[in-house]
Amino acid sequence: MAALIGAAVMAPGAPLHGKKHNADAPAALVAQGHALFVTNCSPCHGADAEGDDGPNLHHKGLADAFIATAVKNGFKNEMPPFGSKLKAPEVKALVAYVHSLQK
Ligand code: HEC
Repeated sequence: MAALIGAAVMAPGAPLHGKKHNADAPAALVAQGHALFVTNCSPCHGADAEGDDGPNLHHKGLADAFIATAVKNGFKNEMPPFGSKLKAPEVKALVAYVHSLQK
């Protein structure tokens, strides 16, 4: 199953407050990240990350490095750290998913 992704991606252009260009992730990785998101994050951020107790994560210009740090370390008194719960590839998939919401 050759995943033909990326060819039709919309114009890049969302400003990123992390300053670094975020490369697009393969669709399969994004899908895996969404599944992990539903399990781990949806109680607070909603199944599609549109916000509940936690903030909406769409179109915020979040940089990949910031997302990874947020997942690993959490936010004191706001969001639990997932650094010891999730493995590096899982964090990577989550970053790919949240990244995909930034445009
Ligand atoms: C217990 C509820 C809770 C869970 C579970 C949770 N979050 Fe959060 N998250 C929050 C809250 C609340 C904030 C806002 C923290 C702040 O800004 O101080 C936040 C902030 C964030 C941010 C930063 C948003 C921004 O604009 O700065 C990201 C990215 C994020 N969460 C991703 C995730 C991911 C991915 C998961 C699952 C691995 C997750 N969160 C699980 C409650 C949660």
